[in-house]
Amino acid sequence: MYTPEMFESIRKVEATRESRIGADLRRMTAEEKTNLLNEYHPDYRAAGFTTLKIGPNKGEKAPVELAALLEANSRVKDLDIDLNQIDYDADVLVIGGGGSGSSTAIMAHENGVNVMMVTKLRIGDANTMMAEGGIQAADKPNDSPLIHYLDAFGGGHFAAQPDLLRKLVMDGPGAVKWLNELGVLFDKEKDGTMITTHGGGTSRKRMHAAADYSGADIMRTLRDEVFNRKIPVVDFTAAIELLLDDQGNAAGALLQNMETGEHFVARAKTVVIATGGAGRMHYQGFPTSNHYGATADGLILGYRAGAKLLYQDTLQYHPTGVAYPAQIFGALVTEKVRSLGAQLVNVDGIAFMNPLETRDVSASSVIRECSTRGKGIKTPEGWGVWLDSPMIEVILGKGAIEKRIPAMLRMYGKYDIDIREVPMLIYPTLHYQNGGLQIRADGRTTNINNLYVAGEAVGGIHGRNRLMGNSLLDIIVFGRNAGRNASEASKHVPTPGRLNFKHVEKYDKEREAAGIKSDIYSPKLLPEYARKGR
Ligand code: FUM
Repeated sequence: MYTPEMFESIRKVEATRESRIGADLRRMTAEEKTNLLNEYHPDYRAAGFTTLKIGPNKGEKAPVELAALLEANSRVKDLDIDLNQIDYDADVLVIGGGGSGSSTAIMAHENGVNVMMVTKLRIGDANTMMAEGGIQAADKPNDSPLIHYLDAFGGGHFAAQPDLLRKLVMDGPGAVKWLNELGVLFDKEKDGTMITTHGGGTSRKRMHAAADYSGADIMRTLRDEVFNRKIPVVDFTAAIELLLDDQGNAAGALLQNMETGEHFVARAKTVVIATGGAGRMHYQGFPTSNHYGATADGLILGYRAGAKLLYQDTLQYHPTGVAYPAQIFGALVTEKVRSLGAQLVNVDGIAFMNPLETRDVSASSVIRECSTRGKGIKTPEGWGVWLDSPMIEVILGKGAIEKRIPAMLRMYGKYDIDIREVPMLIYPTLHYQNGGLQIRADGRTTNINNLYVAGEAVGGIHGRNRLMGNSLLDIIVFGRNAGRNASEASKHVPTPGRLNFKHVEKYDKEREAAGIKSDIYSPKLLPEYARKGR
């Protein structure tokens, strides 16, 4: 429950609520947004970044925590592995057990090849499972992929790779249809029409949701499909380095059992990195909405093998992470709360911004309110502002919260906070990596044969900021795409010859020449607080 000081502020929020209902909160001008981002968005804090000393993106900016892993020791250092001893042999090896990896595996299986998945935790232990608000797709009569493109392109600061964004929006309606047919329990009207809502930066209502358990229901459905098809899934087993063939093409991965530490050689004709995000890197000390295994592993594996990164210097801080209570600090408060009408309100009960600005702008605005403007509410962990959830039932009627955002009701209910009666205290939380490995529209990395990437490990689909619901869409669209293309390619790739780690040796030489000394090993696999050592 809230503290007496917090209740004092809540009284002010209640006092202004009536007058705020229906108020047309002004959108910021382009100039205001630019100034706000420059001053308050964490991506613009120079101290959070460094220049990469080696690798394909040498000379470019990267978060200091990511750079440390990109320039760290390989986990295969000093290991004596017999690469002739093949433990797993597949046409397509999918690294990652979330929504994109599962979609990839399903489509590869559909295409008749021998596909296997490997995941360091269990299938479904992924950011997909934790996604709440919904999935965008332009499938309503007043909408079109072109309008979806324009929304996403503008929201991403005109930096999205045009061919990737085009694919995302064009394949959107088909992706949602596919999920619906597989059994995702989308919210529907009595006549079966999908219910759709707005997200920040959308000009049409195209967010399809399964209450606020959208990602969990999508993951449940995909996991069932993987199991129904009897696709082999090797769980609690991490890929710790890619394996290449004599021509420098991707040809498998070295695996490590997370419990026993045993190593296994997986050989494959094509490899798909679908390892997800990086929230557990806690860039700039932020809490995160991400699952336990989100440690940027795929970026490390790909980069060390020579694959290029794109926009590795841009992260998404979701404007509404839990600021209080401490037990759920940083957990996601879905944007759907704002889609349904809740406003962002400061300590004095003033709605300080339009609640459906894009995420980077909204997060920066919350940070400004709590810092230079001094209008935040003090919490034991720092500061927060109110997300005035009781407004939802004033606007949509009693029962709307239970029906539309039951996960939020339950999450806060555990701590005796009834969000139908009192607002939620929020602050930005590290949510998504906008950058990642660079791919072509067919899902293959731009510079390594037989190496594909899908999902959050891809950079460039959304540009420098992503709109709500475009991530659940991209894991499906680009997962299916990688599954189709990697499996098709595997039909024409001969069984790889001798596997090697020559890229690691080359990388080590580069590290040495650059004078890099590091006592850390990467990929990280688990967060800092998981356990010590290698
Ligand atoms: O706010 C949310 O529900 C998050 C959605 C997303 O990141 O796409």
